[in-house]
Amino acid sequence: MHAITLHVNGTTHRVVVDPIAPLLRVLRDELGLTGTKEGCGTGYCGACTVLIEELPVNSCLYFAVDADNKRVTTIEGLSQDGSLSPVQQAFVDNGGLQCGYCTPGMVVATQALLDDTPDPSPEQIRSALAGNICRCTGYQSIVKSVRAAAGAVGRSEAANETKRGRTPVRSRA
Ligand code: FES
Ligand code: FES
Repeated sequence: MHAITLHVNGTTHRVVVDPIAPLLRVLRDELGLTGTKEGCGTGYCGACTVLIEELPVNSCLYFAVDADNKRVTTIEGLSQDGSLSPVQQAFVDNGGLQCGYCTPGMVVATQALLDDTPDPSPEQIRSALAGNICRCTGYQSIVKSVRAAAGAVGRSEAANETKRGRTPVRSRA
């Protein structure tokens, strides 16, 4: 067993884990963060997507020991002051989910996309979410949600910049 330190959603946890334990199991079973879902368990569906230092990974394949001393963001870490994040709200407003099982992974992967590419084209969205499988929606409403989220995130950042008395440096659709 190995003692590791995980910085999850801004909180530091010291946990003792099996050296081959997937990060997914530690998040769900040790830390109680059950928003991250297990679909396939073998790296195909993306339901288990979390961010490690801002990069999306399949936590079912990522060893917890490899996350030692790294920043981990789960779906629970995206909400702001108890409210839905702009990406979460865009999925709700645009029907980007049905059963919802894939949604935490979709939302986390979308957050990573928008952090890197604030105004993605539909092709860029489909490419970025290619590793996230949805059996319900047919993907059209998901792409629409991500496009809406791009606009919402842009407006929110612009408002914050204006409040701070600065000119927004990025413009978005
Ligand atoms: S549960 Fe990890 S990719 Fe499917
Ligand atoms: S909403 Fe059901 S799997 Fe995507």
